Amino acid sequence: MLEIKGSVAVVTGGAGGIGYAIAEHWVKNGGKVVIGDVQAELLEKAAASLTAIGGEVATVVCNVTNEDDCGRLADTAIEKFGAINLVAPFAGIIKDGLMISPDKTTGKVSRKMSVGDFTKVIDINLTGVFLTVRECAARMVDNKCKGLICLVSSTGSLGTAGQINYSSTKAAMSVMPKVITAEFLRRGLSGQIRCVAVAPGYVGTPMVKGMDQKALETILKDVPIGRLIEPEEVAQLVSDLYRNEALAGEVYFISGGLRLSSRG
Ligand SMILES: NC(=O)c1ccc[n+]([C@@H]2O[C@H](COP(=O)([O-])OP(=O)(O)OC[C@H]3O[C@@H](n4cnc5c(N)ncnc54)[C@H](O)[C@@H]3O)[C@@H](O)[C@H]2O)c1
Repeated sequence: MLEIKGSVAVVTGGAGGIGYAIAEHWVKNGGKVVIGDVQAELLEKAAASLTAIGGEVATVVCNVTNEDDCGRLADTAIEKFGAINLVAPFAGIIKDGLMISPDKTTGKVSRKMSVGDFTKVIDINLTGVFLTVRECAARMVDNKCKGLICLVSSTGSLGTAGQINYSSTKAAMSVMPKVITAEFLRRGLSGQIRCVAVAPGYVGTPMVKGMDQKALETILKDVPIGRLIEPEEVAQLVSDLYRNEALAGEVYFISGGLRLSSRG
């Protein structure tokens, strides 16, 4: 079992939502955190709250789509705390919409998802994760750090209507742990750095609170536990995956029992 006490977590999207909950869980258990986020003001507020509960915290204002920013994020962890033990690339966005929408009267396509709405989600949720993980993993190898890369997939990885962009990135997150684990095995690194993904259902964060609330009410009727998942419950799962060294290469669902219907 790995111990959180004294370990160093690098968390993107750390200014809010699930990323913040992971950072909070880490410092409450004696770990140190580097939180990165594109929202500078929220990031400072998050750092102040973590410091107030006794946490050792460093912040990096970063855009995960920028290669240099991701390098700076990883360097900060090594320079300030001497290690990286958990990589949690949780920065992410949604830009929902149907790929094509026919007009109700004419039956002809009147709206299409824009290339911008498609690629923005790919850039942040997929390329941004790749860059964060690549830069952090390189420092972990160079500095002989032991630990876990924990990606965030989603129940949307199984295919949700209105999320062709988001679901595609989250499906990618469920294959990446296998690719990374296999690559690390080839290079003799898989005992040192493991990689997994968590796949949450609907979690009570600003991302979900910003959704169409009527649609959310309908979705919640299909969630057996009858409520949103708490960000802290996802953070607890990440922490359990970190500590248990038998876990590698897999995707762990935390959905409250949600099963997406054929309508998505
Ligand atoms: N909330 C859910 O129900 C849910 C379910 C499954 C998966 N997820 C995933 O969990 C992750 C966190 O989601 P959340 O609900 O906490 O979202 P959130 O919107 O509450 O937080 C996301 C954070 O990412 C930051 N961010 C966005 N773009 C960025 C960029 N380019 N560079 C750096 N930071 C950036 C935002 O500023 C924000 O602080 C996302 O990857 C999301 O897809 C969320």
